Amino acid sequence: MHTADHDAPDLRTAHVIVVANEKGGSGKSTLSIHISVALLKAGFRVATIDLDTRQRTLTRFFENRLAFGRSTLSDVEMPRHFAPERGETSSARDNEASEFAQMAEAIGAVEHDYEFVVIDTPASDSHLMRLAHSLADTLVTPMNDSFIDMDGLARVNPDRRQRGGVAHYGALVLEARRQRRMVDQGIIDWVLVRNRVASLQTNNAKQIQLALGRLAGELQCRIADGLHDRVIFRELFPLGLTALDALETAAHTLTSSQLSARDEVTGLLATLRLPTRLESGEHLAARHIWFDATASYYKDRPAGFDATCSPSA
Ligand SMILES: Nc1ncnc2c1ncn2[C@@H]1O[C@H](COP(=O)(O)OP(=O)(O)OP(=O)(O)O)[C@@H](O)[C@H]1O
Ligand SMILES: [Mg+2]
Repeated sequence: MHTADHDAPDLRTAHVIVVANEKGGSGKSTLSIHISVALLKAGFRVATIDLDTRQRTLTRFFENRLAFGRSTLSDVEMPRHFAPERGETSSARDNEASEFAQMAEAIGAVEHDYEFVVIDTPASDSHLMRLAHSLADTLVTPMNDSFIDMDGLARVNPDRRQRGGVAHYGALVLEARRQRRMVDQGIIDWVLVRNRVASLQTNNAKQIQLALGRLAGELQCRIADGLHDRVIFRELFPLGLTALDALETAAHTLTSSQLSARDEVTGLLATLRLPTRLESGEHLAARHIWFDATASYYKDRPAGFDATCSPSA
């Protein structure tokens, strides 16, 4: 992948990577962790936001990483991390408004000085999640190699040669895209990332691959080969490390699994085709207008508003 270009113009607008899928356990936090660490290792200034205010997996990972660096006196790259507080009032609207305000504030604090913002999200559909989707410059959606996971994106037709129709999460992203186009003619580059792929090329995996190809055409998204199911993608979490780190310091030797895992993450980053030059100031201005409009939307609506409405509706 490319490395940081610190000769980039001063007026920076961070490129926002949102990692999301309504399906729980699909690998959102695992991908958020690996994408963030890969970008940090490439020398970019990275900010991270943990919108999963309940589980706080990304936050826990970076806490572990900081503790590892301190206890071993080693330099581990850290992002500027934001962990919005969970709204705990009885009003869902107030809670979302406060979480949105914290997200907007976090992005406002880093957008000039950081190249990337990586946002991990919870497996839920809420108004806030929809807003987070429309904020994405790159939307990364991990999915397991399973027709059940695919069914949330597009209905899988029993006759797999036939089209199925857009399903709930697919529709959510298409709507986020529409919203985004209205704000700044921005395009959300949507990449479906296969995760926990089995090492053996089974018949199921081939069927999934074919179905995904069709899906990509229907939903105008791209498909990344992503990550295989590997212990190394999960075992290092308590240490705050990844396969990309020099694990010798953690008393591990470089295994072939670690090398393969590194290749997969590097391949994923290449497939994402993230920009190395930064976005224009117009993009920044449009985002600010949108933040303001959304903040007043939360303020003006009565409690119990229709969560499917958009700020511009
Ligand atoms: N490529 C992989 N190889 C091995 N284990 C994986 C891989 N990806 C994810 N896992 C494991 O699968 C589980 C779910 O992953 P993760 O927590 O990243 O998903 P998530 O989408 O963030 O879940 P949630 O919806 O609960 O936030 C975790 O135990 C994680 O360690
Ligand atoms: Mg998670």
